[in-house]
Amino acid sequence: MSAPTASRLDTVKVATGVLGPTLAGGVIKRRPKVMRLLEKVQADTSAVQIMQDLRAKYDVPLLRLAVPGRSFALVLSADEVGHVLAESPEPFSPANLEKRRALDKFQPHGVLISEGGARARRREFNEKALETPQPLHHLTPLVIERVRQEVAALPTSGVLDWDQYATVWWRIVRRIVLGDSARDDETTTDLLGRLRLSANWSYLSPRHAGLQERVLGRLRGHLKRAEEGSLAEVIARTPKTEDDDPASQVGHWLFAFDAAGMVAFRALALLATHPHARQLAIEEAPSTPDLPYLRASILDTVRLWPTTPAILRDTTKEVEGLPEGTGILVYTPFFHRDDQNLPYAHSFAPEIWLDGRAQQNPALVPFSAGPGECPARNLVLMVTSILLAALMESRDYLLTSGQRLGPAHKQPSTLDNFGLTFSVRPKR
Ligand code: HEM
Repeated sequence: MSAPTASRLDTVKVATGVLGPTLAGGVIKRRPKVMRLLEKVQADTSAVQIMQDLRAKYDVPLLRLAVPGRSFALVLSADEVGHVLAESPEPFSPANLEKRRALDKFQPHGVLISEGGARARRREFNEKALETPQPLHHLTPLVIERVRQEVAALPTSGVLDWDQYATVWWRIVRRIVLGDSARDDETTTDLLGRLRLSANWSYLSPRHAGLQERVLGRLRGHLKRAEEGSLAEVIARTPKTEDDDPASQVGHWLFAFDAAGMVAFRALALLATHPHARQLAIEEAPSTPDLPYLRASILDTVRLWPTTPAILRDTTKEVEGLPEGTGILVYTPFFHRDDQNLPYAHSFAPEIWLDGRAQQNPALVPFSAGPGECPARNLVLMVTSILLAALMESRDYLLTSGQRLGPAHKQPSTLDNFGLTFSVRPKR
């Protein structure tokens, strides 16, 4: 049966109330000023409401939008999310048109925008280097050492804001990915940031070929050193063809580590405001690098505020009555905050990732799912949980920026990570 098409009015509602705010916030690189505004108006509340209204009205798994010149459909049921993601890359290809045009600006050979044999090879390369199935990457002991060194540079009392935190975060990331001697190479991450800003505009902005060559050239320089104890060294040992362009893969990794940094800062805010969760996190911290409760806290932070709110696919053939080349949107906040079905929709609930409830729901996909699932899921959970453990080891945090995050409150639908500030003092 062919998917029905939304009315023009409903299509306009989706364009202005769901896609508009998502695009305005910056899909590839967040825009801090817009994020502040989106938090103020709690933009995701009305976006989720629009999606719930569409589900109630049309009651179908897939709903086409009345977009002129582009076949496009929204996923409206949890089971359909599972189905679409499980059947990637065929017939639901992650290399969606809008994504290709955006990501091509800084990762022309990235796996996420590759197709066919190239995609399969690049996926394998990513999985090998990132040790996808392993909860703890073999670099874990070195990650612990570097995180501790960098966190030690933060003051033990005073104010912690985004700028201070981000400086430390990026030092850690560059050391892990490119090697210790890249620690202070802010130029590379800044230039990459410029390219990513232009990528926010997808095909509406020029390609910036010169800047792209500069960024990829700098990354190639770092990778050539293959510094011991870094992912660059792992890359040097991982089988690949020249065409797989490791600098492109690393362009994606650095872009995605930006999201991981935001998530860890938001998780710190949740732990600072949830005494019970904080206690559980602190209790496990010194004993093991596994840190299951902290990992669950990170997962639930991404559930509450997904860093990939729009998971996009393009159909590679006619499927479910949709023509080949139809764009498919899984708008994750709709499923993650579905208060009509999830009792914990607006609560911080790390326990759902530990007792199996989250895994039973095919639409809770903070790291996507299926063959296109984030190959760095475990690496991210390892690095961010170790960072949180180090931040909380000898310091207490009080959230001073005014967001109401405690257990008595509904968690805000939009949370501007750039605006979070903490008062820090040595642990009592
Ligand atoms: C909190 C941090 C992160 C989150 C929430 C996250 C989430 C995701 C999601 C949802 C996707 C699927 C995107 C899509 O299908 O359109 C994805 C793909 C991917 N992620 Fe992550 N990611 C994170 C960090 C990272 C990091 C740090 C790396 C690398 C070191 C990474 C590497 C990748 C790659 C290579 C893909 C493409 C996979 C493919 O197409 O097969 N991610 N990630």
